[in-house]
Amino acid sequence: MAAEYDGLRSFLAECEKHGEVTVIKDADWNLEVGAITESVSELIDEPPALMFDEIKGYPKGYRVLSIPTASRVRMALALGLPPETPRMELVRHAASRIKNVPPIPPREVETGPIMQNVMRDNECDVFKFPVLKSHRLDGGRYIGTGDSLINRDPETGYVNMGTYRMQAHEGNLLGLWMSPGQQGRIIAERYWKEGKPCPVVATFGGDPLVFFLSYTKFPFGMSELDRVGGMLGRPLDVIKGPITGLPIPAHAEIAIEGELMPPSVETRKEGPFGEWPGYYTQGATGMDDEQPVIRIKAIYHRDNPILLNMAPQWPGAPHHSVRFEGGILWEQLEAAGVPGIMGTYVHHPMMIVVAIKQMYAGHAKQAGMAVLAAGTGARNGRFVVVVDEDIDPSNMDEVVWAMTTRVDPKDDIQIVENCWASPLDPRMPPDVSANGPHVNSRAIFYAVRPWAWKDQFPKVNRISKDEMAAVVKKYSGVLPFPKR
Ligand SMILES: Cc1cc2nc3c(=O)[nH]c(=O)nc-3n(C[C@H](O)[C@H](O)[C@H](O)COP(=O)(O)O)c2cc1C
Repeated sequence: MAAEYDGLRSFLAECEKHGEVTVIKDADWNLEVGAITESVSELIDEPPALMFDEIKGYPKGYRVLSIPTASRVRMALALGLPPETPRMELVRHAASRIKNVPPIPPREVETGPIMQNVMRDNECDVFKFPVLKSHRLDGGRYIGTGDSLINRDPETGYVNMGTYRMQAHEGNLLGLWMSPGQQGRIIAERYWKEGKPCPVVATFGGDPLVFFLSYTKFPFGMSELDRVGGMLGRPLDVIKGPITGLPIPAHAEIAIEGELMPPSVETRKEGPFGEWPGYYTQGATGMDDEQPVIRIKAIYHRDNPILLNMAPQWPGAPHHSVRFEGGILWEQLEAAGVPGIMGTYVHHPMMIVVAIKQMYAGHAKQAGMAVLAAGTGARNGRFVVVVDEDIDPSNMDEVVWAMTTRVDPKDDIQIVENCWASPLDPRMPPDVSANGPHVNSRAIFYAVRPWAWKDQFPKVNRISKDEMAAVVKKYSGVLPFPKR
């Protein structure tokens, strides 16, 4: 990181040094930024971060940042690790640091870059920023994709942070979609039951760590902002919001203060919005119906603000992020007492791979079932694949090879019914999605050499990873090997 901490900008300065940022000019906020982002994610291996500037209809400097941590190098930099850290190590380190670093509470400061520009009351206009419409059938423009919403529990004083989509209905009115059971929503409901609006702060761009921890699920009462400090190794500077008293990260790019209105007082039709499974899923939680709104009281932003775009992309796009949730799962499996875990990777919330070094009969089944029980694997899943230690769980080609050569479907696929699921599951029948119960079934693929005769399993005719590394080293000046 740069010597002087400056949130997202410190991170971007480091990325630029490694040639990891491409500036794109003249793109249109209406579908084109989304289309470029998605094409790059699908087609370019280890893609650069995309900094959109001079966006149609907007002044130079009002920027949008897409896929900030979609390469291994940038993910390492965001986590404060050396850029050469291998992918699986990165996943593992991220999780163990999130879990193990001692939390450091934020430090209140008088002011900071976020206060460079202030809009109050009637001046508030989120369309001052190039708010995107990402997909053709989206019901509007969404400012909150890469956001962090902060609110305070009125009963305990605990300050929560979470990421939830936010539609820009009007210059000073945002729609908010929070899934039932989300902690941010539980807090809001405590205000609403007293007939009161819930004070909120939301940021739309800032340090990648703030964003990572914003969407990571922690137990209620465990502060995400304290964990950001722990990961940074220093307290996060925050400004006491003049209206809400809530903490506003001082180096954020764009922030608002406002009130999340009780639904009995005000709601708006929200969505539809192309969601993470890759569909416009509708149903129980009213994906395109009335949802709560935030009445904005103030907007703050830095000079030349950078709006973070994290609009969901088609989940098959292989390069849109390095997923570190797998590392959290790794920790959870070990905490549950599953030995011999060699790696875990969440390719998509609906496809989780765990590699084990088989140690005894039943070990693979223990690992597969433990994934379904662990916090990270319990919700939203579909397929769990257990592989041997020679398979890199983050490499889908290797995983498919294991599935197609080590699974006998009759014996090695286990179906588990009535598992915890989200109404966003596109395969959930409409009446179940609308009325619950929100459960689905899972398949566990035991793509491992069968324990009983694993030593007789045919030998592999592939060169070893060390041999391949030696070839790359020797011939990288002659052949265009990708830098991984
Ligand atoms: C890009 C992105 C967008 C998200 N959008 C939503 C959303 O619209 N609604 C929601 O309930 N959760 C959403 N999530 C998941 C939550 O951020 C996540 O479950 C978080 O842990 C919630 O925090 P909380 O438990 O403190 O409420 C999103 C996650 C990411 C990474």
